[in-house]
Amino acid sequence: MPDNILLTGASGLFGWNFLSRLRKNRQYSITCISRKIINKDTSFHHFIAADIVDKKDIIRIAEKAAPKIIIHAASLGNVDYCQIHQKEAWKVNVEGTRNIIAAAEKVKALLIFFSTNAVYDGRKPPYGENSLRTPVDFYGRTKADSEDDIRRSKISWVIIRLMTMYGWHQFSQRPNPVTWLIGELKKNKPVKVVNDIYNNHLYVGQAIDAVLKVVGLNKKNDTFNIAGRDCISRFDLALKVVDKFHFERKNILPVSSNFFSQLAPRPPNTCFSTAKMERELKIKPISVDEGLDMMMREMDLR
Ligand SMILES: NC(=O)c1ccc[n+]([C@@H]2O[C@H](COP(=O)([O-])OP(=O)(O)OC[C@H]3O[C@@H](n4cnc5c(N)ncnc54)[C@H](OP(=O)(O)O)[C@@H]3O)[C@@H](O)[C@H]2O)c1
Repeated sequence: MPDNILLTGASGLFGWNFLSRLRKNRQYSITCISRKIINKDTSFHHFIAADIVDKKDIIRIAEKAAPKIIIHAASLGNVDYCQIHQKEAWKVNVEGTRNIIAAAEKVKALLIFFSTNAVYDGRKPPYGENSLRTPVDFYGRTKADSEDDIRRSKISWVIIRLMTMYGWHQFSQRPNPVTWLIGELKKNKPVKVVNDIYNNHLYVGQAIDAVLKVVGLNKKNDTFNIAGRDCISRFDLALKVVDKFHFERKNILPVSSNFFSQLAPRPPNTCFSTAKMERELKIKPISVDEGLDMMMREMDLR
């Protein structure tokens, strides 16, 4: 009998790749939530259009699906959008997560929640699971508050803090640093990229590995920071993308982050320590070159 999973954010970068990875795995039966239906039902997944801010609907769906695990990947993740639309960001990210906590409590499911590197201020890297959280933008605040709500709740939970991710996604979904850059470079015009913001960017496939390990190892009431190997600037990431996808280096221009009048402040260096992920989940962080190679291979399969 397959284990039932309820997945929110099924159309997003994580959700869409998670479903592709698990499609051939008959161990799980997945009920997938996003605001728009993204796929036809199969024997393995059932799609439901729902809004996580609608508590009654979310609890009704959870009761029907009777999941053992809820993977909560839905959120408003655009940092600038959240900074301007703070009421909406609070409603979706904090109140929406409270509804998911209520659903998990009702059906006695383990909740796997995705938090972010944006809970840190970027001044004292590398960040471990117990490092002080002092978010500098509203998005980071919503995630830190949801972490606290989850820890205070009566449910079983695992918090997975993801570093900024890259990987292929549905065309209708928001771009990530790699797909955005590929889109810009295709216009064959110079692109300005910041050289003073550092991350150990995470290939989406390793976020999936982390969730599967957390489930397989039966982790509970624990927090994991998940990231790639290389702590590099956006500019250095861009050079790697240019080389791997055969664009021209001359079209990448380094600028400092002051150049852009961004709406939300950006923490300068939120690189994670991957020690706990390596020790307890036995996941070896991959380099950006390896992650981009994976994307090249997936491009051939698309
Ligand atoms: N991507 C990153 O770099 C990154 C880094 C750190 C943490 N995270 C966190 O990891 C999780 C997954 O990220 P992601 O990049 O896969 O997300 P994403 O690509 O931005 O997708 C967001 C998903 O949330 C859904 N959603 C948004 N508002 C909703 C609502 N009110 N009701 C129901 N569904 C709603 C969207 O559905 P629609 O298609 O209907 O809009 C979409 O499926 C998120 O919690 C994110 O905050 C992401």
